[in-house]
Amino acid sequence: MSALSFSPVALRPPELSSNHRSSAVSLPRRRALSVSFASVSPETSTAPPQIPEIQLEFLGPKPGDPVNRATAISGEKLLRNIMLDNKIELYAAYGKVMNCGGGGSCGTCIVEIIDGKDLLNERTNTELRYLKKNPESWRLACQTIVGNKENFGKVVVQRLPQWKK
Ligand code: FES
Repeated sequence: MSALSFSPVALRPPELSSNHRSSAVSLPRRRALSVSFASVSPETSTAPPQIPEIQLEFLGPKPGDPVNRATAISGEKLLRNIMLDNKIELYAAYGKVMNCGGGGSCGTCIVEIIDGKDLLNERTNTELRYLKKNPESWRLACQTIVGNKENFGKVVVQRLPQWKK
């Protein structure tokens, strides 16, 4: 068996000068790679946002009540959860202490959709049962999915429509 020995070799970059030709190194020419980066200003873009969002506006039952606002990623949450997460009052007095926790069995999480109903899911069978004598614009917040993962826009919600004056 023979022993191999390696000695360090100093590597130098090829000479770039045109009047000095190196005979030791000849590298193939590489084609220039062209890469362009397009920038899109959010003010001028009409394309949908990359993560579609729904803006929500919540009106109180009495004139002069403050308007609450929230934003949700499209198709990710129920209206009830958005309201509770943002500390927006959903339940009337009875519902505050006796709601079913979003199970669709108490009918106390009623809201009215003033604008943007097309951005929500269709009424569920639970809603059809609980709200059959109420206007079509009324929904149960625990059954209402905000967005469908692709749509975006604004939804206006009337809180406590049964108390509306
Ligand atoms: S929270 Fe009970 S039906 Fe919606």
